[in-house]
Amino acid sequence: MKGFVPTPPATVELMVGKLFQEKGPAEKSRLLDPGCGKGAFIEGVIQWCVRQRIPLPRIIGIDSDPRHIADAREKFSKYSSIKLILGDFLTPDDLGPFDFIIGNPPYVPITDLSHGEKSRYRNIYQTAQGRFDLYLLFFEHALKHLGPDGRLVFITPEKYLYTDTAASLRRLLSHFVVQEIHLQREDTFRDLVTYPTITTVTHCVRGGETRAILRDGTIRSVNLPGHGTSWWPTIHQHGDGQGRFYEIRLGDICRRLSCGVATGADAVFVRKTVELPAAIRKYAYPTIAGRELVPDSVILPTNKYSMLVPYSRDGHLLKEHQLGALKQYLEQKAVRDRLLQRTCVSRKPWYAFHENPPLKELLRPKILCKDITPVVKFWADRTGLLVPRHSVYYIVPEDPAKIEGILAYLNSNTARAWLFANCQRAANGFLRLQSHVLKRLPVPPELAPPGTQLRGLAVEVA
Ligand SMILES: C[S@@+](CC[C@H](N)C(=O)[O-])C[C@H]1O[C@@H](n2cnc3c(N)ncnc32)[C@H](O)[C@@H]1O
Repeated sequence: MKGFVPTPPATVELMVGKLFQEKGPAEKSRLLDPGCGKGAFIEGVIQWCVRQRIPLPRIIGIDSDPRHIADAREKFSKYSSIKLILGDFLTPDDLGPFDFIIGNPPYVPITDLSHGEKSRYRNIYQTAQGRFDLYLLFFEHALKHLGPDGRLVFITPEKYLYTDTAASLRRLLSHFVVQEIHLQREDTFRDLVTYPTITTVTHCVRGGETRAILRDGTIRSVNLPGHGTSWWPTIHQHGDGQGRFYEIRLGDICRRLSCGVATGADAVFVRKTVELPAAIRKYAYPTIAGRELVPDSVILPTNKYSMLVPYSRDGHLLKEHQLGALKQYLEQKAVRDRLLQRTCVSRKPWYAFHENPPLKELLRPKILCKDITPVVKFWADRTGLLVPRHSVYYIVPEDPAKIEGILAYLNSNTARAWLFANCQRAANGFLRLQSHVLKRLPVPPELAPPGTQLRGLAVEVA
């Protein structure tokens, strides 16, 4: 069952509305639903036509999963104008041109394709470049089927708007009119966070601007660049307000952007600094938790708590005989029992942390923020000595000399506005500052070290 993610009814209705926005279908119009699954869009088209009291167009749905096609055939058995084909949409065919195409193509990463599939697709599709995803190929193949004046509405991950891998799709789309890009909420498909977007394309000679609808509701008309360059900065007009757009992301200028250290037993490893016996102080590092990051304060409480770390500075777990007085502390019955309750001990030594702390990367000048917060606020650990706990995200700039500039930018209204528009919300409405979102934050180019590669764009969220 490759890439089956049914489209929720509200999204189906929105997309069918976009498909027929300029002109509804005639009885002889041809409509294609590639990767039709159980027929969510076909149902949406039927409902639209019933509401408009018009006859159904000729609909073709195609899916490679026999169970979906069987379900759909049963559901639509009374409609003679609906044809359901069991087959591979990506195999060259003679389905012919269509007036309307609507779909939610499968999102299948290259890693889930067989060797044979990969090389076959690479031979046929210009979008099968680099670490391609099946939805890019569906987009390309659907565009080939779009007749003159035809209209296509697809929901896909937004990644195609900016990744290097999708440059060939953007180039291909520059021969069509991209009428609208409508970014959808990240929870559109519930737990599957794909950052979806609905794209409306027409096959006509009229050029013109693209209507971009952003997640915060902003609507703007933009001229998308041709030649396959990223559309993201143009769509967001995220820049200095003077026509300069930011291409570089926070992920591109940081050597590490991660969640803090998870010991699996903070009650054992995190102690009040003043209460630490002198003999184990050499294993202690000042540590900080999210609750200690108080938005009103610019000063970090750096010495209240310490983390006992049974690892060397280069991140290797110390041998038991190297633990000295720390071993005596950890071997006390209540302490050891607590450590043994952790699930990680089935695969790790009893005194290891739940996750190995990347101390070498982490013990550097860095920027910190809470993982869940009512306001966006960042602090600098200029000494580089603090070990952030699991409720803190830390950002290690590639160039330590840029830390003040990056901090000032992260605390600016520009960055805040972007984070408010792009972060998920926790149940209480607080923002979740997850690393995959922080990595996508556009940053001014002067914060980047010379020769920065756009890694953050290539390695995108799933
Ligand atoms: C994201 S689901 C969408 C299903 C349906 N259109 C909906 O919106 O509810 C993608 C569908 O594509 C189908 N699919 C995957 N690879 C395919 C291929 N090569 N040819 C045709 N269908 C394919 C899957 O079986 C799945 O039903």
